[in-house]
Amino acid sequence: MMHIAPSILSADFSKLGEEIATVEAAGADLIHIDVMDGHFVPNLTFGPPVIASIRKTTNLPFDVHLMIENPERSIQAFVDAGSDIITIHCEAESHLHRAIESIQEKGVKAGVSLNPATPLCMIDDIIEYVDYVMIMSVNPGFGGQQAIEKVLPKIEKTRKMIDSRAPHVRLEVDGGIKLDNISSFRDAGVDIFVAGSAIFQSGDYGRTIAEMKKILASG
Ligand code: DX5
Ligand code: ZN
Repeated sequence: MMHIAPSILSADFSKLGEEIATVEAAGADLIHIDVMDGHFVPNLTFGPPVIASIRKTTNLPFDVHLMIENPERSIQAFVDAGSDIITIHCEAESHLHRAIESIQEKGVKAGVSLNPATPLCMIDDIIEYVDYVMIMSVNPGFGGQQAIEKVLPKIEKTRKMIDSRAPHVRLEVDGGIKLDNISSFRDAGVDIFVAGSAIFQSGDYGRTIAEMKKILASG
């Protein structure tokens, strides 16, 4: 089952609740929430209080992408805010196993993410323990960037690794996913497609999500 996760980074922050309701009605499967700390990535967004506040506006699962250093220190706050999935970067946490375990023992699904230049071997010893692997197809920090299609072979390799060693893991891609390239990522074996600007900068969220789903179903 393939899913679309609109990233609210490209939504209108002055009416976040409304934006979420609109993408929910438009067929979103998850809400992707980009948390940036100005250290791990050169940008700042929002933290637990904003997530707790938008939690009241929807029942869709919250896919919380932590682009922060030492994420283990902040896990409890993001759990309390209402996260359903918490994804941390393998480049940002030296005690990955402990951090993943700490997310899961609080009843939340745990993901690990890799930047475009990070080799897949970084998660070789953790893959069996996670619930999600998220491959970045842009260098994180900003919405609206173009996907680096050179990550496609890494995604294919990740698919094979999941199928042979950890079939419970779901494979997510994040960054630059648009109507004109989503089929290549589908063919590479992705399960969950994050899309920010492609949805929120389209005039019609419903039509864009429906078209994405049509492309996914035709594969
Ligand atoms: C990038 C974020 C992405 C971003 C995706 O740092 O992690 O989730 O919002 O936005 P688009 O789809 O516009 O690349
Ligand atoms: Zn993201």
